[in-house]
Amino acid sequence: MIEIDGLTFQYDGAASPALKDISLSIEDGGFVGVIGHAGAGKTTLAGAISGIIPHSYKGDFYGSVKIDGMDTVDNRLTDISRLVGTVFQDTDSQIISSVVEDELLYGMENFGVPRGEIEERLSFALDEVGIPQLRNRTIASLSGGQRQKVAIASLIALRPKILVLDEPTGELDPGSSRQVFSLLRRLNSEYGMTIIVIEQKIMLLCEFAEKLVVMNRGEIAFSGDVRDVLLHIDELREIGVNCPRVALLSKLLSEKTGRQLPAAVNIDEAERMIKEMIA
Ligand SMILES: Nc1ncnc2c1ncn2[C@@H]1O[C@H](COP(=O)(O)OP(=O)(O)OP(=O)(O)O)[C@@H](O)[C@H]1O
Ligand SMILES: [Mg+2]
Repeated sequence: MIEIDGLTFQYDGAASPALKDISLSIEDGGFVGVIGHAGAGKTTLAGAISGIIPHSYKGDFYGSVKIDGMDTVDNRLTDISRLVGTVFQDTDSQIISSVVEDELLYGMENFGVPRGEIEERLSFALDEVGIPQLRNRTIASLSGGQRQKVAIASLIALRPKILVLDEPTGELDPGSSRQVFSLLRRLNSEYGMTIIVIEQKIMLLCEFAEKLVVMNRGEIAFSGDVRDVLLHIDELREIGVNCPRVALLSKLLSEKTGRQLPAAVNIDEAERMIKEMIA
């Protein structure tokens, strides 16, 4: 379980805090989407969960972040990263090897994965992400999207309990973005991994995540079940988050009919809702 309590963080040299008095708990096995305008503090929040804040970024840190009861300030980054795997927004800074296979091997060797498990984990991770054919390719020859997939595969091979992904589909086309989210869903439902994903594509979050955290200027503006958060369409728009059109449709239908309809999160639900109304 992740417990964030009264977390305020100000980067050294910054004029104001990037995170202001954040409190949030994330249950084991949750699938949480984080969204918000540029500079809202999403990456900083991800960094605080993965421990790189305050271990790698200096600044004023108040409050606490605990991962399974382990305080991120009092524990070493290497110990935290056994529980929390992070795919950074800038994946290029994360990849250190020059060949795909080596990148996965490096992480596993560092984590002391038993020899007998290495090959199985390696092919499992490449298969799950859909890149077995890239195994012997050089990193330099890959596209941005392929590199993002390599970064994700490297973490899957380590089997962390919690996976934090900072805009993992930033370089991907719509089809590959859905593939990544389907993979996250599988990791979540089949392996019970807790997934925390920062994502600008709200349709994807609404379809795949259970909970949404909406950030605004270093604070949590809304947090809760996707459907409940989507009821705040107007307030969300004011802070730069545009709800999917299906949610807008539910709101308009609620207003027109005087019935409080739950927010639809995908086309199928919207279709069902309209059919019911017509019937
Ligand atoms: N290393 C740093 N040093 C100083 N200030 C920083 C640093 N990194 C981020 N900030 C500032 O902290 C605030 C939050 O940044 P953060 O990167 O967490 O936002 P974000 O929501 O991830 O934005 P984006 O959508 O652009 O990725 C911003 O005002 C940013 O300028
Ligand atoms: Mg960011």
